[in-house]
Parts: sequence; structure tokens; C-alpha cells
Amino acid sequence: MSSLLAAAWMLASSLWIKKKVMCSLLSQRDWRGDEIVLDIGCGRGLLAIEAARRVPLGRVYGVDIWQADDLSGNNPEAIRVNAAAAGVSDRVFVETEDARHLPYSDQTFDVVASMTAIHNIADAEGRRQAIAEAWRVVRPGGQILIFDIRHAKSYLQDLRTFGAIDTQHFGPIILWGPVGWRFSATKPVELSSQ
Ligand SMILES: C[S@@+](CC[C@H](N)C(=O)[O-])C[C@H]1O[C@@H](n2cnc3c(N)ncnc32)[C@H](O)[C@@H]1O
Repeated sequence: MSSLLAAAWMLASSLWIKKKVMCSLLSQRDWRGDEIVLDIGCGRGLLAIEAARRVPLGRVYGVDIWQADDLSGNNPEAIRVNAAAAGVSDRVFVETEDARHLPYSDQTFDVVASMTAIHNIADAEGRRQAIAEAWRVVRPGGQILIFDIRHAKSYLQDLRTFGAIDTQHFGPIILWGPVGWRFSATKPVELSSQ
């Protein structure tokens, strides 16, 4: 009986609760509609596609290293197919890149987002590198939006150390089993030299 309940919870988490958490995460921003967005660990495009709906005049870049152990069926073609089905393929771009070494120039994105991805980096130093990269590529005045399980509070601590302001976090949120948190953090305009 308990294994049936656990299976039902896993299914509900994957089908509905994850989507609800993702929408709540994106709603932590007042969207203008022309933002340039980065989705780190975009998988099959759950967040990237919803972000694209919110930026009809913007662009969304999804990066991933497509580890099948983390998410089955994640590959660049899958997200392209899903973006086309959602009618947003004109503004969703997919690249094979590692969160720890992003190829973008400093201050490229208005919004850097990530959903249940960074915890897949096994070591704390690697996760710290990914958060430092997110901070580097977000513009002054731009926002970082992250939901993750297990380590999200340490990401927020790192961002505060870098100088993030207007931090808001919500949780605990139980998805699948491990506890997660969602948060937003803003890079202040006066740090424009970073
Ligand atoms: C659980 S899936 C989540 C996918 C998507 N964000 C979602 O919410 O449906 C985690 C994703 O992170 C990706 N990933 C893991 N380590 C990564 C890294 N170092 N850089 C970029 N992507 C990574 C995996 O390949 C996988 O697609």
C-alpha cells in the first residue's frame, strides 16, 4: 500500500506539482515581455517554453548537457519539438553547454532561471561554479529564478555573498521526496562593473 502511495506521489509530482512549482517560480517576476532569458539544465523544455510564452518579444536560450540519468528523453530535438508544439519555436534556442562553464559574455541575460537541475552536479564546488556563472551572465538589474531540491538555500547564500538583493524564497516544497526551495534574487544596478 505504501509503495502504491509513493508511486502515486511520484506521478503527481512529475505531471502536475512540478509544473505548478515552475509557474510559481516564473511568477516571481513582473515580466515586460522582451527579456532575454537563460534556462540552465533545460531538459525537455518545461521552464524554457513557459518562459517563452511570457516573452513574446524576447528570446529564451536553453542549455543542457543531456544526461539521460537525470531526465529520460532529454535531447535538443525533444525541446525543439515541444517548443514547436507550443508555438514558441521562433524564440527558443537550444545549446549543449555545461552550467559550470557558460560560453556567454558577462551580463548577457535579463533573467537566468533553472528548475531541478543544479543539484545534479555532484560536488559542492561544481554547484558553486554554476551559481557563479549564473551571476556572471545576468545583467545588472536582472533576476535569477531558481527552484531546486536539496541545496537551493546554499545557492541563495552564495548569491547574497556576491551582492544579490531583493532575495525572496519560498519553501519547503516537497517534490518526489527531497525538500526543495524556490527563490528569486536580483543583481543590483550599481554592481555594473561585475
Ligand atoms: C531533472 S532534469 C530537469 C530538466 C528541466 N529543467 C525540468 O525541470 O524539466 C535536470 C537536467 O539538468 C541537466 N544537467 C545536469 N547537469 C548539468 C550541467 N552541469 N550543465 C547543464 N545541464 C545539466 C540534465 O542533463 C537534465 O536535463
